[in-house]
Amino acid sequence: MTIQHIRQRHGMSRLHRGYGETWAKTILMGEHSVVYGYPAVAVPIHSLKMRAWAIPTITGHAATLRSLGYYGPIDEAPEQFGGVRKAIEVAKSYAGASTLDFDIVTRSDFPAGRGLGSSAAASGAVVRAILDACGVAASRQDVVGLTNRAEVITHGHPSGLDAVTTCGDDPVLFVKGAMTLIDVRMPAYLVIADSGIAGSTKEAVDDVRAQYRRERDRVEAILQRLGTLASQAARDLAEGGLNSLGRRMDDAHELLNALNISHPVANDLVERARRSGALGAKMTGGGLGGCIIALAADGMSARSIKRDLLAGGAPAVWIHPLNQLDVEVDGGLDQEIEDEAGTGIEIDRNIAGGDVDTSHGRFRV
Ligand code: MEV
Repeated sequence: MTIQHIRQRHGMSRLHRGYGETWAKTILMGEHSVVYGYPAVAVPIHSLKMRAWAIPTITGHAATLRSLGYYGPIDEAPEQFGGVRKAIEVAKSYAGASTLDFDIVTRSDFPAGRGLGSSAAASGAVVRAILDACGVAASRQDVVGLTNRAEVITHGHPSGLDAVTTCGDDPVLFVKGAMTLIDVRMPAYLVIADSGIAGSTKEAVDDVRAQYRRERDRVEAILQRLGTLASQAARDLAEGGLNSLGRRMDDAHELLNALNISHPVANDLVERARRSGALGAKMTGGGLGGCIIALAADGMSARSIKRDLLAGGAPAVWIHPLNQLDVEVDGGLDQEIEDEAGTGIEIDRNIAGGDVDTSHGRFRV
């Protein structure tokens, strides 16, 4: 049966092979504390894409998923693909196409399980691909909402930050589901280094929650401090407070370490980045491995930090200009990818799909 036949049978004249893309994110400040309602700052990394295709299939035939080394019927895909399954379901329902089936293919520029938002990015890209296949337009707010419903399956209690940032264009200050775009006035660079160790965000979030139950006062004080650092970091970005941002990143790393969610390999990379001239460095995302980020004052410093981190064993290092205009000025810097290791998606989280308010304003000081 051809797409033509499927179109006729389902009365969907615009049905075709759909494509959707999203991208990686890094959390500059406020991971974990954001789950408790404190502010967080996250930065989309547009050069690291997540791509998805949705190909309408013959009804009655098992729809397939090709993702992260898995290729087979979607219904039989391992547990880790629960989020993608949910993304397919909610996107089909949104498009009024619940009776249709799609073969889904995803491809990622960045590794899974490294705190770069691969689960949200995968769900978002799949949602976009299915809506595209059905010829249905959706607002970004709706795409984020659908993505976050998928994140619930993987994560349990998502803050919504990953869904927003992997679909969004600008760095955001995110507080309790509402976000404010940040006009970055800082010609600096983030150096993002993979520790090579996959960490489970769900496990890390559960771990922090267990500590919170056991030692509420201690943990609450840490979370509160992380939230304050996030608000201050948003201001630093808007005002160009380079050195203060670096110091706050160092402080945040210590606090996250006090929650026992960093990893010795990540800590080594953080130390190495600082010795190489980073103005500050920290783990990013869920932790228990994953990636670290370091702040570099300029392109030359970013390259030198990158070289040192690769020499120190990081399997992949990326450079991202914080000021979007620098993409042109320093052409190519943000595209540097040393290693294709572990490309693909991991459904490592399972967030409770609350509504995310993307009707934002711009953040200026
Ligand atoms: C994961 O990228 C960030 C966490 O704060 C979890 C969340 O925000 O849902 C650890």
